[in-house]
Amino acid sequence: MQITVGIIGCGSITKFRHAPEYWENPHVKEIVFFDRNRHRAEELAEKYQGRVADTVDDLLNDPSIDAISDCSSNEVHHIHSSQALRSGKHVLCEKPLAISVEHANKILAAQRESGKKLMVDHNQRLTKVHQKAKEIIESKEYGDVLTFKTTFGHQGPEKWGATKSNATWFFKKERSHSGVAGDLGIHKIDLIHYLLDDEIASVHGFHGALHKVDEHGEPIEVNDNVVCALKTKKGRLGTASFSWTYYGLEDNSTTIYCEKGVIKIYHDPQNQIIVETKDGATIKYELESIQTNDNQTNTGVIDAFVDAIIHDKKPIVTGEDAISSLRVIEKLLGR
Ligand SMILES: NC(=O)c1ccc[n+]([C@@H]2O[C@H](COP(=O)([O-])OP(=O)(O)OC[C@H]3O[C@@H](n4cnc5c(N)ncnc54)[C@H](O)[C@@H]3O)[C@@H](O)[C@H]2O)c1
Repeated sequence: MQITVGIIGCGSITKFRHAPEYWENPHVKEIVFFDRNRHRAEELAEKYQGRVADTVDDLLNDPSIDAISDCSSNEVHHIHSSQALRSGKHVLCEKPLAISVEHANKILAAQRESGKKLMVDHNQRLTKVHQKAKEIIESKEYGDVLTFKTTFGHQGPEKWGATKSNATWFFKKERSHSGVAGDLGIHKIDLIHYLLDDEIASVHGFHGALHKVDEHGEPIEVNDNVVCALKTKKGRLGTASFSWTYYGLEDNSTTIYCEKGVIKIYHDPQNQIIVETKDGATIKYELESIQTNDNQTNTGVIDAFVDAIIHDKKPIVTGEDAISSLRVIEKLLGR
């Protein structure tokens, strides 16, 4: 079986991940691109031998299209993804699912009414390293998880987004809404939920716009740094920090402290998991190099989405999963 896929938004995430990964998936017949900056859609259509849609309605009303990747900016996910589901398409929506839980609920309602699949791109779950870490944690070899520490930070989205400038939508309140918290933080909240098979119940933190400036040299309207303390439903305690001002190499590391050992994830580029046991042993795992903005490797997300459609399976990241992470971000920002 082969499917045709439409993509809304042809910026960086489409260029580096969605388009090449659909292109390489043997079950994908054709990709149809739409962007309000038409030249971005045209460039990708040429590279991946696809088509360009003139309007979002043309894309959603095209009966040959089975599924949509919603790669537009955050403030329109609830519009595009809901419309796509109601048009009978399966949807892979970029994270954050929406700019608020209220908006995200609209997407979930559309999903339930349509019966189509909704997956959200919390890609951290799918890295070989995080999959292995989950296996180690679930084996209980080192006992139960007691506490954790996680961080995600890089030099900022003005170097990543399609515009490559400080005028980026990532810095605008009405478009990004939640700054680095919703951009990077939500990945780690989802990861902690997934690794620990648990949910953050309580969060207290600080956030601020410490250093980034917009195109006029003014401090940005959203947070560029967050530090917080977290408590899960099962009583685990943790800390997290998320940053757009780590002006060195990207930091994507997590530490899980268990009853009989410590699991260190992405602290060392060579040995992506290092386990230090209570009795003094060190076990090192060399799995795959980390995906960073500068090192784009297959995320597995597109393959998992296509697989869920072809084999009628539940997606690995559901709308409900995404809402539970979004809820933590809202609490963190006091909304
Ligand atoms: N999963 C991840 O690791 C990851 C990484 C980066 C970005 N993202 C998410 O992907 C989404 C897109 O981010 P990006 O980095 O590609 O941004 P970007 O600025 O590079 O690209 C966004 C594109 O969407 C288009 N667009 C915006 N609104 C539109 C609309 N209403 N109709 C049509 N096109 C529209 C823009 O013209 C632009 O080409 C965001 O939600 C972001 O949070 C996810």
